[in-house]
Amino acid sequence: MKAIIQTRYGDEKTLTLTDVNAPTIQKPTDIKVAIKYVNLTAGDMHINTMDIGGPMRVMMKLIFGWRRPRKSVRGITGSGVVIETGNHVQKVKPGDHVTFIQSLNAGALADEMIIPEKLTIQKVSKSNLKAATTLPFGYLSAMHFINTETVKPGMKVLILGASGSVGSAALDIAVQLGASVTAVLRAKNFDAIAHLNPTKTIDYQSEAFKSPSKSYDIVFDAVNKYSKQTAEGWLKPRGRFMTIKKATREDAKKLNQLNEWLEKGQITPLIERVYSRHEYRKAHRHLYEGHKVGNILIEWDEA
Ligand SMILES: NC(=O)c1ccc[n+]([C@@H]2O[C@H](COP(=O)([O-])OP(=O)(O)OC[C@H]3O[C@@H](n4cnc5c(N)ncnc54)[C@H](OP(=O)(O)O)[C@@H]3O)[C@@H](O)[C@H]2O)c1
Repeated sequence: MKAIIQTRYGDEKTLTLTDVNAPTIQKPTDIKVAIKYVNLTAGDMHINTMDIGGPMRVMMKLIFGWRRPRKSVRGITGSGVVIETGNHVQKVKPGDHVTFIQSLNAGALADEMIIPEKLTIQKVSKSNLKAATTLPFGYLSAMHFINTETVKPGMKVLILGASGSVGSAALDIAVQLGASVTAVLRAKNFDAIAHLNPTKTIDYQSEAFKSPSKSYDIVFDAVNKYSKQTAEGWLKPRGRFMTIKKATREDAKKLNQLNEWLEKGQITPLIERVYSRHEYRKAHRHLYEGHKVGNILIEWDEA
């Protein structure tokens, strides 16, 4: 089968589209998926380029391979069609459309991938497959912080980094939960997020951003570039600061809720661009530049 592999860490030039052996079902709880779309995420960027310093880099190399990637096929989250299941699989059956994330093992940039049923996999509708590809990374990460327990209707929420995969999802979810949301992002991206209905937009490079008003119930740093001190300038006295720097959990119930909202048209994932699989290096360069708007996908199976 065709796959995009990487045998040493580095930029997009270390990626190659080539032929590899197709994976086979090993365990009764394995699911084989024919890939349709892959979401290129900040997670892929960190894993492929090892751009993170300090103790985190050591930890990542221990997990993903010390000298080179332990598993050469890249891509951690995508969507496709189930083509085979082990005898004990209960969640899905052949023919079902699914979206999934497998952050510790990669393998999505390929014709076929094996996903253990215990990992995060969600049945979705065929008509929403492309949009649903964005749910397991940005939306699920955002929902770890922005959810019914933290956000009540009428609350004022400030999202720092609202143009990213996590930030645009946080904005979408917070609006869906009835909050009044101010989006902080580069002015050139205001139009791209307008359909997510922020109450207000602020350019993080503007003077307005340098004069905060202490009026928000929640400030969420969705881009991991802001300190608690900066956030506190925007918070009400008993307001709450949350940051994507904290580890998240891949919660199947939350993914199911997100899919229900998507099916009802209550959330609208932001997809900046869909690349063909032959544009894989260009697509990864776009990711590694760090300025993508929402999500960028690779359409693997263009049939
Ligand atoms: N803890 C977890 O489990 C977890 C889960 C998911 C993601 N993350 C982390 O969260 C971060 C964001 O992920 P992502 O997927 O949303 O990234 P992304 O899609 O690449 O988005 C980053 C966005 O932030 C904008 N940006 C850059 N500097 C900014 C600033 N100072 N203020 C406001 N916006 C700024 C960028 O556009 P411009 O540069 O054009 O403004 C871009 O649109 C990454 O570091 C990722 O590793 C952590």
